[in-house]
Amino acid sequence: MTTSPSYYDQIGGAPAVRDAVERFYVLVLDDADLRPYFAGVDMPRLKRHMVVLLCSVLGGPEPYEGRDLAEAHSGMGITSEHYAKVGEILVSVLQEAGVGDEIVQHVVLVLRKVESSIVAEPVETAG
Ligand code: HEM
Repeated sequence: MTTSPSYYDQIGGAPAVRDAVERFYVLVLDDADLRPYFAGVDMPRLKRHMVVLLCSVLGGPEPYEGRDLAEAHSGMGITSEHYAKVGEILVSVLQEAGVGDEIVQHVVLVLRKVESSIVAEPVETAG
C-alpha cells in the first residue's frame, strides 16, 4: 500500500518551512503595528518553535514542543485585526513560495481554529 506524500513533503520539508518562517518574520517585523509585540523576544527561539509547529501542522515528523499557544500569547492583548494581519502575511509567504491552494487552505483552517487561543478577550468596559 502506498500513501500519498504529506503536505510537508509536497512543499519540500523542513528546509522549505524554515525559509517560509524566515520570510514570515521579516514581513511581520517590517510592519509598524506588529513590531512592538516582538520587542525583547528571543527571535531565534520563536522561529524554531514556529518552524516545528508549521511542520507538524503540515504533517511533518517533528512534534511541537513549544508552549501551548494560549499560554505563549497570554497577556499580549493581541487584537483580531493584528491576528488577521499576521495570518495574511503567513498566507502570502506560502503563496509566494509556490505552495498550492489545497495546502494554503489547510493552513487557513488551522489559523481559524487557533485564533481564539491567541486573540485577547475583548476588554469589558464599565458603563
Ligand atoms: C497566526 C497564528 C500564530 C501562531 C501559529 C503563532 C505561533 C507562535 C509560537 C509557536 C510561538 C512560540 C511559543 C513558545 O516559545 O513556546 C509564539 C510566540 C509568540 N507570538 Fe505567536 N503565533 C501566532 C500569532 C501571533 C500574533 C498575531 C502575534 C502578535 C501580533 C504573535 C506574537 C507572538 C510573540 C510576541 C511571541 C513570543 C512570546 C515569548 O517568547 O514571550 N503571535 N507564537
